[in-house]
Amino acid sequence: MTKTYKLKVLAGDGIGPEIIKETYKIIDWINATSDIIIETSEGLIGGCSIDKHNSPLTDETLDECKSSDAILMGAVGGPKWDNVAYDIRPEAGLLKLRKSLDLYANLRPAKVLDALIESSALKPEIVKGLDILIVRELTSGLYFGTPRAIEDLDNGEQKGIDTCTYTTSEIQRVARVAFETARKRSNKVTSCDKANVLATSKLWRQTVTELHKNEYSDVELDHMYVDNCAMQLVRNPRQFDVIVTDNLFGDILSDESAMLTGSLGMLPSASMGGEDMPYLYEPIHGSAPDIAGKNIANPLATILSMALALRYSFDSKALAQKIEEAVSAVLADNLRTSDIMSEGCKEITTSEMGSAIVAKLNG
Ligand code: IPM
Ligand code: MG
Repeated sequence: MTKTYKLKVLAGDGIGPEIIKETYKIIDWINATSDIIIETSEGLIGGCSIDKHNSPLTDETLDECKSSDAILMGAVGGPKWDNVAYDIRPEAGLLKLRKSLDLYANLRPAKVLDALIESSALKPEIVKGLDILIVRELTSGLYFGTPRAIEDLDNGEQKGIDTCTYTTSEIQRVARVAFETARKRSNKVTSCDKANVLATSKLWRQTVTELHKNEYSDVELDHMYVDNCAMQLVRNPRQFDVIVTDNLFGDILSDESAMLTGSLGMLPSASMGGEDMPYLYEPIHGSAPDIAGKNIANPLATILSMALALRYSFDSKALAQKIEEAVSAVLADNLRTSDIMSEGCKEITTSEMGSAIVAKLNG
């Protein structure tokens, strides 16, 4: 029986619309050939929403997101909106979406494909076969703590204030996702914090240790300070399986892991957790305003995010795998967008990359 799923598509700004357009080719292929139907509808997020509604994400669009089965996002932001009020900046739309849907666990898998090994910033022997997963806490910590302000001081200076908070249950629930996921992978979790300095990190370490002892003692657990983890990721990244960490550290470490795989343009992500809420799928890269509209952006992180949607939201593991295999096969044919171009390969455009994936799927 055909099953229909509702996908809310938020293309956003910069290269967002271009990479989403290529992902539509994959969705069309799914609808034409598989036993599921993906019904799409579009909405605005980020700068394009500010331009139209003076808000980076309207409550109406948020409600439409909530009533869909999954959300696919492109990217938000750009210099055009540098001077809008801080609380309606493009990124605030994305943060509102994550927070409102309570998407506390952000999965960012970084895999080095054999075909792309030359694009990695590291030597092939260091990254060959690398397959790690960063589980980033996404709805708390420094990103959401209050007070947050820039205050005027009597001496004429200003003072910027951010607040980092974590509660026991916020740590437990994301750690649980990490342990559960590790059980389906290589059964190892590295919990990354700054417990030698920060109170939130001290609680983080204590809570993860306790949860491990009580419920997940079959999983191997290490703790690592974030500075060491950043270093170990470039020294010997294959020592990791699942890394679980807070919101800010996860933001930074996931960009670092992306470069291990060759390009920011390759890394998909899935954000999940909220009870009875749809999951959000988005590439980890930004809107890359400098290359927007040039048809040179890499659409693969978004296409791979769509594969994650098939796996986690649309109960279609086999289709997800097919798309991931098609991506590997196109790269094995030495077709590359400019960000992952290397000697002896053929450079192709954004839209050619989308079409090449569909051709593989059909082949
Ligand atoms: C990411 C991005 C976002 C973040 C920005 C766009 C707000 O860098 O998804 O990693 O910091 O979470
Ligand atoms: Mg980031």
